Amino acid sequence: MTRQLFVTTALPYANGKFHIGHIMEYIQADIWVRYQRMQGHQVHFVGADDAHGAPIMIAAEKAGITPQQFVANIAAGRKEYLDGFHISFDNWHSTDGVENHELAQDIYRGLRDNGLIEVRAVEQFFDPEKGMFLPDRFIKGECPKCGAKDQYGDSCENCGAVYSPTELVQPYSALSGATPVLRTSDHYFFKLSDPRCVEFLQQWTTEPGKLQPEVLNKIKEWFTKDEEGKGGLGDWDISRDAPYFGIEIPDAPGKYFYVWLDAPIGYLASLKNWFDKGGPAAKYGDTRSYFDFMADPAIEQYHFIGKDITYFHTLFWPATLHFSGRKTPDNVFVHGFLTVNNGEKMSKSRGTGLDPLKYLSLGMNAEWLRYYIAAKLNAHVEDIDFNRDDFTARVNADLVGKYINIASRAAGFISKRFGGQLSGDLGVEGRVLLDTLRAHRDTVTGLYETRELGKVLREIMALADRVNEYVDQNKPWELAKQAGQDAVLHDVCSVCIEAFRLLTIYLKPVLPKLAAQVEAFLQVEPLDFHSASRALGAHTIGTYQHLMQRVDPKLLEELFAAPEPEKVIPGGEDIAPEIKIDDFTKVDLRVAKIVKAETVDGSTKLLRLTLDAGEGRTRNVFSGIASVYKPEDLEGKLTVMVANLAPRKMKFGISEGMVLAASDADEKKNPGIFVLEPFPGAQPGMRIR
Ligand code: 2FM
Ligand code: ZN
Repeated sequence: MTRQLFVTTALPYANGKFHIGHIMEYIQADIWVRYQRMQGHQVHFVGADDAHGAPIMIAAEKAGITPQQFVANIAAGRKEYLDGFHISFDNWHSTDGVENHELAQDIYRGLRDNGLIEVRAVEQFFDPEKGMFLPDRFIKGECPKCGAKDQYGDSCENCGAVYSPTELVQPYSALSGATPVLRTSDHYFFKLSDPRCVEFLQQWTTEPGKLQPEVLNKIKEWFTKDEEGKGGLGDWDISRDAPYFGIEIPDAPGKYFYVWLDAPIGYLASLKNWFDKGGPAAKYGDTRSYFDFMADPAIEQYHFIGKDITYFHTLFWPATLHFSGRKTPDNVFVHGFLTVNNGEKMSKSRGTGLDPLKYLSLGMNAEWLRYYIAAKLNAHVEDIDFNRDDFTARVNADLVGKYINIASRAAGFISKRFGGQLSGDLGVEGRVLLDTLRAHRDTVTGLYETRELGKVLREIMALADRVNEYVDQNKPWELAKQAGQDAVLHDVCSVCIEAFRLLTIYLKPVLPKLAAQVEAFLQVEPLDFHSASRALGAHTIGTYQHLMQRVDPKLLEELFAAPEPEKVIPGGEDIAPEIKIDDFTKVDLRVAKIVKAETVDGSTKLLRLTLDAGEGRTRNVFSGIASVYKPEDLEGKLTVMVANLAPRKMKFGISEGMVLAASDADEKKNPGIFVLEPFPGAQPGMRIR
């Protein structure tokens, strides 16, 4: 029976490039999807950028562009990674697409009509320095559940708890560092504590054979109330006040959906976009609408995600779908984090260490990484470590040494001695070997199905070992030198080629590009799992070209070499509006000599400067540079002053001009004030033009 699968990976925030953690998840899902396609199933594998939320709005504002433009810029960079690592999404979309606006509003209306939305006045953190309500991600503090420090306002990266920012212990504004104050505003809640929701989720999460056991354990904790009746499923605040980059809540002016409400709906939006574009019609002749497709009880829906977003996907998401009258996921597949060289955690916000684009730009083979990651993965929520020596060993010893080698040992004889034609006979021993290989097909597919990727590769490598034993016993290189052994040589090498073909079928979900090269070399149709049962027979193959290089450890050294020291990027202050030259000449800038510099009694900020701008008199100028310059650093030096600035009366006297100095817009991040000094030769009184 042909299955119809709708598969997604977590939607990445559109405020940064992919890091190796994203790529790991995409590789895991892509292998599973390719395996399903090779079984003849119809798969719709979709992704999208998670475009909304305050962080993206704030980043766009800083960059001086609209959030839409900001998100589009990020989206433009995605293809390079996805193509580079052979990730075969059918569609990539954005949660800011019209489909998502419509679907999210529709889903919300469904929840509201079900009586599951409630408006409550909420005290929310307000940044008194910035004058705005603080988004969750811009409030930090200690996790109320486990006490981990510096956690974000919505969820804890350490223990996975989800809470509201007001629950944080010792909160502070990440925008200004200020201690936030509470202000009241109306918020919209999804009543997850409603007995209908609790009952539904308890049933949904415990469906036999569904969630991974460790996920289920976590969920049980989340369901549990303590002795005081605290804990358990809390209602979920799904609204945010303007200004917010997001989707407007129907009939609620100035209110937007919190990004996490519309993000998973983006899965549906991307699928809808794919159907509206006619993707399934072109690929599978499926001309149904998105709605008809989703209404088909036979379709299966799967989400691959990281462990940190389990709560959203196993509680909020199924409830959102169910109570708006929609199909719920068939499963959510949760993976752990990736660490690099036993080092830092590769969570979303802190990805460093192994830069995927650098990997590709060094000419490293994407399939080495696919193979290695697959070798480390299993169906559990375990963290895995990328270890460079282990990587080199597995690729060189297993992938190249055991698998590729089989072809390279046999192919030359077939083309040189037998005109490229395989033997149709193969001999008893060879047939037994090949039968053994074929007999493992269901084990292999079973392991792919259950995402036991490490096990599947061990299984396949054990089969490759058997083939290599066969080669070592039959020694084609010796047969080739012996008279009258041509027929045996022909059989042995043909067995090797057929064995190589079978192993290639088994490895194809992991190594799609290599498999395509093998198909070209063997001159066969695209391999799938059914093609394992049909032997090649006396088929003519092409000439063998080396299929895969070994990893040169030097490449890994380069990959992990410390990057150029990061430049301090000035605070992103926009260039002021354009002026005409006349505007500029209105400002009379002069070279001035600092004749005298003194501290100012009663001020820690100001220095009193006596300046000579070549006028036959000196001027008195106050300058706010006392925190960075001592008077003796300045005396006798030349600088630049605004000479025609109207005199200003200050607390300590009259200031007759202004000294020029550079500083970053974000003084906290990038402190320092730098007084300008002309090149040698300039004289006091010279005009700057
Ligand atoms: O944690 C994240 O990176 C989110 N952008 C994931 C969203 S997954 C889905 F809900 F869209
Ligand atoms: Zn915690």
